[in-house]
Amino acid sequence: MAGKVTVVGAGFYGSTTALRLAEYNIFDTVVLTDIVEGKPEGIALDINQSRSIEGFESKVVGATTTPEGAGYEATANSDVVVITAGLPRKPGMSRMDLIGVNAGIVRGVAENIAKHSPNAVIIVVSNPLDEMTALAQLATGFPRNRVMGQAGMLDTARFTNFVAEKLNVPVGSVKTLTLGSHGDTMVPVPSRCTVDGQPLSEKLSAEEIAELVTRTRNGGAEIVALLKTGSAYYAPSAAAARMAKAVIEDAGLLMPVCAWVDGEYGIAGVYLGVEAKIGRSGIVKVVETDLSASELAELKVAAEAVRAKQADVQSL
Ligand code: LAC
Repeated sequence: MAGKVTVVGAGFYGSTTALRLAEYNIFDTVVLTDIVEGKPEGIALDINQSRSIEGFESKVVGATTTPEGAGYEATANSDVVVITAGLPRKPGMSRMDLIGVNAGIVRGVAENIAKHSPNAVIIVVSNPLDEMTALAQLATGFPRNRVMGQAGMLDTARFTNFVAEKLNVPVGSVKTLTLGSHGDTMVPVPSRCTVDGQPLSEKLSAEEIAELVTRTRNGGAEIVALLKTGSAYYAPSAAAARMAKAVIEDAGLLMPVCAWVDGEYGIAGVYLGVEAKIGRSGIVKVVETDLSASELAELKVAAEAVRAKQADVQSL
């Protein structure tokens, strides 16, 4: 075990991420923070009391923080920081409806994190994801490779689950990919999807694939509508925790993430969902994949949509 990870926000997403990270048993310390007094300390105590049952030694530390920066000492010198702070969606809301309120929260958190952990790799999960990732980079002033967002891992996992259920095959035999934004301009990439190594188009009709693509695009909203009081967190936390693990282990794993794109696919100067190698420095390399002409066109549309919104967050 080595290193320290901080999870900012002890809501369902944050607390589940902290639990997963602790259970991996790879970090010495998992810090969980929240502005609700006592909540992160209580959750930390609870998770620590599960250690002897589940057999892990990572220690969870809870810390109440204030927007002004009190309590952030507990996060000092974190290697990785997962920012979950902000409000989730309610039924009928789009992720973009959260931009005003969450921008203020994420900006404040990012500034406090940067002060105490100047060398951290930051993984943003707050929504709207692509814009909050761009904002966290601006607010920290960190090199762009050290700030990324979690979305593609989740959207891809949802797509995989839908394909596996439709064909009644193990999820392990299905490979899918989603790129683009974590919103209306998400780009599921059917041409890159396979089942037991066979193209998805040989297993499902174009209409069936289109249905699964639409369900993937609406994957978050489908769960928000069912839960009524918040958004998904089991699959999202699994995605964020795996990214943090890839960073601390310097794994070099290829993951779909929200990363700074600088010329790949003919797109530059924007945070966008792409595949990238993840390691100790954060984004080690954005890796281009073959796309069909229509998928590439959709990715460019996504880039322009998030570029416009990322320009807006500078003033929020
Ligand atoms: C979702 C939220 C977490 O997609 O963005 O479920």
